[in-house]
Amino acid sequence: MAGVDEIHKAQRAEGPATILAIATANPLNCVEQSTYSDYYFRVTKSDHKTELKTKFDRLCKKSMIKKRHMQLTEEMLKEHPNIGEHMAPSLNARQDLVVMEVARLGKEAATKALEEWGEPKSKVTHLIFCTTSGNDMPGADYQLSKLLGLNLNVKRYMIYQQGCYAGGTALRLAKDLAENNKGARVLVVCSEITIFTFRGPSEAHVDNLVGQSLFGDGASAAIVGSDVIPNVEKPLFQLVWTSQTIVPNTEEAMTLHLREAGLTFHVLKGVPDLISNNIESVLVEAFQPLSLSDYNSIFWIVHPGGRAILDQVEEKLGLKPEKLRASRHVLGEYGNMASTCVLFIMDEMRKKSEETELSTTGEGFDWGVLFGFGPGLTIETIVLRSVML
Ligand code: CAA
Repeated sequence: MAGVDEIHKAQRAEGPATILAIATANPLNCVEQSTYSDYYFRVTKSDHKTELKTKFDRLCKKSMIKKRHMQLTEEMLKEHPNIGEHMAPSLNARQDLVVMEVARLGKEAATKALEEWGEPKSKVTHLIFCTTSGNDMPGADYQLSKLLGLNLNVKRYMIYQQGCYAGGTALRLAKDLAENNKGARVLVVCSEITIFTFRGPSEAHVDNLVGQSLFGDGASAAIVGSDVIPNVEKPLFQLVWTSQTIVPNTEEAMTLHLREAGLTFHVLKGVPDLISNNIESVLVEAFQPLSLSDYNSIFWIVHPGGRAILDQVEEKLGLKPEKLRASRHVLGEYGNMASTCVLFIMDEMRKKSEETELSTTGEGFDWGVLFGFGPGLTIETIVLRSVML
């Protein structure tokens, strides 16, 4: 008869967790950043707030965002005018517009990821769904499982309302699941719809304007598993090491509160400084075991919270401009899509690496780092290893 130790060992995978497919999706409705200020002040009936509008215009110009996808249309705002007010009760309307849509948008990305993986969906053993948008029971994980027709015994994990760092959290959890459950194939889905945070401008809440200039909608998905099946599955990146850490005394730096008026967003101006001053110690912890201290010799996937965050990280660590190319690309094309961004960046990186005939999925480099940032302030870090192309 097998002993507990033997059973325990047999349950575990042998190899490191590996990303086997990545895909993304966005709502069709797209807004141009160059004209967004006019649109935003018009649809929130705030054209008379001329000073705020000029400030918002400056914010939009400095964001380095070109366009964003948004599920929320002018027609929806006409139907639910309270959403466009600054703090009017509107939670019911927001929930009604988001709860199913966040799962549907997630389905679009997940379907493409399953297609790339090429294996039957019945082989998915675990599902992780991550969103800051909406809250419901049964949750978006359940709805997605139903929409995709996954097995009824898929083990589900729901990560609600963690904010932008949670793309890293979802991948960290996927690594633990894949490595600790032999044969596990984990479907990771991040889906974000900004209807929860959209609101009109107010002189009393200027940081709201920062959020209104930055956030966009999107979904990303990945399949994660260990012990890759040769000639059947195609590895893209290995998940080698993970950590989550809180930057001390920064609880007030970024907060979001769920109110009758939806999710309110508060951010201090010092956030880019706080993040960039605190990531070097994490990098040292992550890369010392590899005797690696030249951060220009790795590839970078950094949650694009805002242009200033990327600028400060680049400057403080002395990174060459090309290091944050993929992160800046995603910010420019889609805005800050919270938890979904890191997989968007990974997808952009491996595609561009292949297109430009580089030697690995990580822009020709072997090792890389992924950073997620969000309320806490919380930093998620993943050490990645690329795959030869
Ligand atoms: N609160 C209030 N006002 C702010 C502000 C803040 N946090 N940040 C900037 N502003 C104001 C400035 O005071 C300035 O006002 P005036 O034009 O009237 O002088 C205006 O916005 C523009 O600021 P700057 O001229 O300093 O321009 P900039 O070069 O800093 O660019 C920016 C503006 C693009 C917003 C840049 O500051 C930035 O990227 N900031 C970081 C944004 C940030 O914190 N993102 C995190 C988002 S949250 C997230 O990712 C995780 C999550 O969980 C939700």
